[in-house]
Amino acid sequence: MWKTFLIAALGLGLAACQPSKRYQSFTPGELWLDDNDVHINAHGGGILFEKGRYYWFGEHKTAGEGGNKANVGVHCYSSDDLYNWKDEGIALHVEPEGSGSPIEKGCILERPKVIHNPKTGKYVMWFHLEPKGQGYGGAQSGVAVSDKVAGPYTFLRAGRINPGKWACNVPDSLKEAPVFATEDAYSGGSLPASLDSLNIQKRDFEGGQMARDMNLFVDDDGKAYHIYASEENSTLQIAQLTEDYTGHNGVYARCFEGRFMEAPAMFKRNGKYYLIMSGCTGWAPNAARSAVADSIFGPWKELGNPCIDADSALTYHSQSTFVLPVQGKEDTYIYMGDRWTPENAIDGRYVWLPVRFEGERVVIPWESEWKLEGKGE
Ligand code: GAL
Repeated sequence: MWKTFLIAALGLGLAACQPSKRYQSFTPGELWLDDNDVHINAHGGGILFEKGRYYWFGEHKTAGEGGNKANVGVHCYSSDDLYNWKDEGIALHVEPEGSGSPIEKGCILERPKVIHNPKTGKYVMWFHLEPKGQGYGGAQSGVAVSDKVAGPYTFLRAGRINPGKWACNVPDSLKEAPVFATEDAYSGGSLPASLDSLNIQKRDFEGGQMARDMNLFVDDDGKAYHIYASEENSTLQIAQLTEDYTGHNGVYARCFEGRFMEAPAMFKRNGKYYLIMSGCTGWAPNAARSAVADSIFGPWKELGNPCIDADSALTYHSQSTFVLPVQGKEDTYIYMGDRWTPENAIDGRYVWLPVRFEGERVVIPWESEWKLEGKGE
């Protein structure tokens, strides 16, 4: 009798300790509260699946227009079901104002992504960095490492990419062609007929390639890649990281020359590489783009706008940040996008939608509320 009582009491106790599962579905664009009842603050984010949990890293924004600057750092949340997120705190803190650190408070630190290196055991975070007070002209990349997935991360360095190295697919004609000052090559404010006439890749040869909107991708063979908008955003570059993932090894390709792709999100399906991207209109949404390739360095074939429902021309008022392969569910991917609110940065919303395939084509339908389904549930 008392045994039954004990078991029941234990059961009740356990139930009381279990955090309640607030969400059982995704509601794109709505407020999304964490376990402290606070709207999730992880913009331009990405997800790492590690030891049975998902870890979501993103920009911690603050209120108002000034909240687009990095005043706090990179926020981390964790989840076992992708609907309910536990606040894991700030994974990478900005350095105090006046410290002179590249990641000083007030810098621009965007689109952080984290991968795990099995050889070193370290978690490696890369992000787009613009040193304080220099607008978006720096186009640097920062890297930080930690022994623990949720941090704290230690900042290593920031800079341009692959100085003194040509892309593996740069034509010899560009190596020899002159470099024009950007102002000379633009006529009447419009873009030059051929972007290659600017030869930005050569302009930046010595100092290193520009990198703004970015992502990371780890291939099945453990090789990791940095994918970023380069050459004044005109051309996407895909660069291999060193074995420890904390640097670039000099091997990189130029893709989508002159296509002005931003917000790249890469995933692999049935041996093919896919990219979902946006055009370049700042915080304002535009039509998403998609592309497929047999090899990560291309050639890439554009597949058009993957969105198909009302407001598809604005990617349902969002911009891509990541595509998440859902663990344990066959052929299940989530499009993760940001609905930016630059006038009050902290209120930015998340637009997560299912990714479907029609043959080779990628399709993202609009759903105002949806759940993960399919094999493995
Ligand atoms: C967007 C970019 C964002 C941010 C913004 C600033 O195009 O995707 O990450 O840099 O511009 O205007």
